[in-house]
Amino acid sequence: MNLLIDLPDITNFLSLRSSSSTSSGLPDPAITSALQFSVVVPTLNEADNIDPLLTRLSALDLPAGSFEVIFVDDGSSDGTPEKVRAWEGHHSRLRVRLLERREKPDLTRSILAGVALARGDVIVVMDADLSHPPERLPALVAPVLNRSHDVAVGSRYVPGGSTVGWPLHRQWLSRIGGWLARPLCDVNDATSGFFSFRRELSSAIAERARGYKILLELLMAGQGKLRVVEVPICFHDRTRGTSKLSFFHQWTYLQRLMTLAGGTVSVGTASRFAAVGLIGVAVDALLFQWLMSSGAGLALAHIMSFFAAAAMNYSLNSKWSFRRHHEGYLRWDQFGRFLTVGVFALLMRGGVLALLVYGLHVPSFLAIFPAIAATAAINYFGSAFYVFPDKRNPPSLDVRWRVASFGIVMFAVLLRLVYLGVAQLIPDEAYYWNYAQHMDLSFFDHPPMVAWLIWLGTSIFGNNEFGVRIGAFVCGLVTMGYLYALARNLYDKSTGIRAVLLLAVLPFGFVTATLMTPDAPLMAAWAATLYYMERALVADQRWAWLGMGLAFGLGLLSKYTLGLLGLAALVFVMIDPAARRWLRRPHPYLAASLALLLFSPVVIWNMQHDWASILFQSERATGIGNKFSLQWLFLHILLVLTPTGLIAAVLALLPARDRDPSHYANRRRLFVIIFTGMPLAVFFALSLFGAPKFHWTAPAWLALLPTIAWMMVQASDLRSIAVRLRAAWKPTIGVCLFFYAFAMHYVVLGIPGIPYAGFTEHYFWREATHEIEQIAKKVQRETGQKPIVVGMSKWSVATSLSFYDDKAEPMDIRGRNMFGQNASMYNFWYPSEPATSRPIILVGMKPWQLEHDIEGNDNITPVLVQPGTVQEVAIERDGKPLRRVYYRIAQGYLGSREN
Ligand code: GDD
Ligand code: MN
Repeated sequence: MNLLIDLPDITNFLSLRSSSSTSSGLPDPAITSALQFSVVVPTLNEADNIDPLLTRLSALDLPAGSFEVIFVDDGSSDGTPEKVRAWEGHHSRLRVRLLERREKPDLTRSILAGVALARGDVIVVMDADLSHPPERLPALVAPVLNRSHDVAVGSRYVPGGSTVGWPLHRQWLSRIGGWLARPLCDVNDATSGFFSFRRELSSAIAERARGYKILLELLMAGQGKLRVVEVPICFHDRTRGTSKLSFFHQWTYLQRLMTLAGGTVSVGTASRFAAVGLIGVAVDALLFQWLMSSGAGLALAHIMSFFAAAAMNYSLNSKWSFRRHHEGYLRWDQFGRFLTVGVFALLMRGGVLALLVYGLHVPSFLAIFPAIAATAAINYFGSAFYVFPDKRNPPSLDVRWRVASFGIVMFAVLLRLVYLGVAQLIPDEAYYWNYAQHMDLSFFDHPPMVAWLIWLGTSIFGNNEFGVRIGAFVCGLVTMGYLYALARNLYDKSTGIRAVLLLAVLPFGFVTATLMTPDAPLMAAWAATLYYMERALVADQRWAWLGMGLAFGLGLLSKYTLGLLGLAALVFVMIDPAARRWLRRPHPYLAASLALLLFSPVVIWNMQHDWASILFQSERATGIGNKFSLQWLFLHILLVLTPTGLIAAVLALLPARDRDPSHYANRRRLFVIIFTGMPLAVFFALSLFGAPKFHWTAPAWLALLPTIAWMMVQASDLRSIAVRLRAAWKPTIGVCLFFYAFAMHYVVLGIPGIPYAGFTEHYFWREATHEIEQIAKKVQRETGQKPIVVGMSKWSVATSLSFYDDKAEPMDIRGRNMFGQNASMYNFWYPSEPATSRPIILVGMKPWQLEHDIEGNDNITPVLVQPGTVQEVAIERDGKPLRRVYYRIAQGYLGSREN
């Protein structure tokens, strides 16, 4: 929509150029030529700028009399009106007019007053201080005059635009101002003061509009239906006079932004809200402290004090702060919304508390205050936008989705960030951490990216959960970025934002960006590859092949599954004639070579290790037997996509009925179907013969998300199921997000009244490791020898013990390959273990693991010296049971039976 245009030849549009114009100083006959547009210049103490501005305007190569300049002065005290009056009348080639306002000075109101006076159908607004080069005026007005666009923005933030002479803080303010407006409108320089538009558009500007950002008001009033173009300008800081932009204007801007986004603000509301909040803080903090000191524990104390403060806040807010938006009696739907916001705030605040108390060892009576602040922020925005939204001029559906997406994505990302470092590792993550302790070119069961990321993260942040997981977090952001760009290219920016929303809340996106597994970098590389594939194959851009080579290579380093996208690309090129031309050009081959080069560490590792990894993966993919498991694949898809997501995916893949039939739309469909369908088809085929892993299909949905996001607001699709689906998204998003927040709070702090169950074997390794350490110390004391600790599962036990092991006094930890059983990478790290007379502690998650393998074969008891019985330990925290762990002590090992 926002196309960049080059400086057009204005004379094409100003056809009435007079040939008889003279410069005699006498009333110019040409002044009677038709007026085409009006320039509105607001002034407040700009006396020194009037002459230079008008001189430069009159020097423009435009037909005399084709425009007028209307100055709107707000009571300048430096003689500005007099300066303007000197130019009024007919002694110049310019038509200059002056409006002197007598009301309270305001930039927006001044401009609107000038517009009301204007005689041209097209308006240009510009500053008086020469910050906006008058020479760019023809370029700015042309797109509106020739009716190709409704609004033209003089933009500093498009190629060719710039800012000269502004101090750094002004540049930052301007950038931040622009970014804040980004969720609402797609213009790069929404805070520009230099723009042109058709006059009638101004009538839609909100009655309440105030302050500096009239352009934003204009764009928002157009509800996204305007054709907007950005014309690059070079903004020069003023050389005469001073800027009138004050803190007050910036405050007004923030308020207008919130209102335009559909939120409720007024100074009264905010300050009353704050007053109520302060009483709430006191209630909350005091009760929390009292509960803590009476031994309630972090979770119970903060939840109880929260509800006490929230109940009080709600009654005061609804009766007082937001009373205009409240009918005076308790509205259940509103109360429900209030509770929803409160529960999300509560679950987030648990994370903040845990981070401060457990992670950073801040005393709890201090930690409660930042926690309350986080709660208050969530509550405030939740109240302003969701519980008590401004109903007077609600923004369009599109803007409402954007605002909601923005808030929800922020919440999801912050939730991850807060809990990242305080939730214990799952065994898989501990396994990949062990990879990073044995850095190599590649590994047996996965390519190396996950290990490299963990190595990097832990090098910076230390060997803790945060260091391990930060890589996944960053990968999640990269995935979002590329998915947004892909969806924007396929559809539009709004679709891009909604696609990111879906990625942030659907399980396959949330979980892969939270846990540090190979799927985290895989998702990022998959999204990046899709983005470059679309740019190369559909948009026909050569440079995209470079990105593709990089993304594809890095993706293969993450997980071999990414190769499926190569297959999809091949199919696309075979079907699509336009893309087929690439086969005869060098770019795809160069990209493939680059990818191969990046992938070479894996090839080298495999050469050194008898192709172990490649054999293992292809065996797993092909030789998995003939157990029909398609039903499992469906169940897993239901889990990673949610039922709503699955139905939406089916609809998105279905042939379009009344959608866009253009050539581009057809190619886009082909792209989406092939890049989703190909990988899915392979997973389907594999599931005909053996059990799929539940996260297999996760990346495959990335290519379909843009279409699903697009359909979320498509009014033209009249299938009733599509309409009902639209209604289903809201609860789906809410339930998903609640589930993650709840789960994180549960594993980190607990939820009062709900015991830990289901983790009995696989989680809480920090506490379990501590118990095993005590046992190992006891054995060492009794025997005088350091025991060997053997994890008796494929890798979960040994790797988790290694991660949570006391690094100052590490245990000697081995895999069960010691006894000839398969232990994945441990087979490589500790290839063989000779007989020993050192004591051995076998550790398992289930009792049978300490006796034989899963099939009941391979009884290990005979190779142990004086094996003891299997012991069970109940692991507790603060007196509450967490899980169990099993161990067995022997006084030595006789060596592998083959010897
Ligand atoms: N009538 C009237 N009333 N004019 C005003 C008022 C007012 O209350 N306040 C400022 N002006 C006039 C100034 O005289 C000048 O011509 C123009 O509005 C811009 O004011 P400046 O004080 O020079 O603003 P700035 O340079 O800091 O900000 C400019 O750049 C920003 C870019 O981020 C303006 O163009 C902003 O609109 C723009 O957002
Ligand atoms: Mn200025």
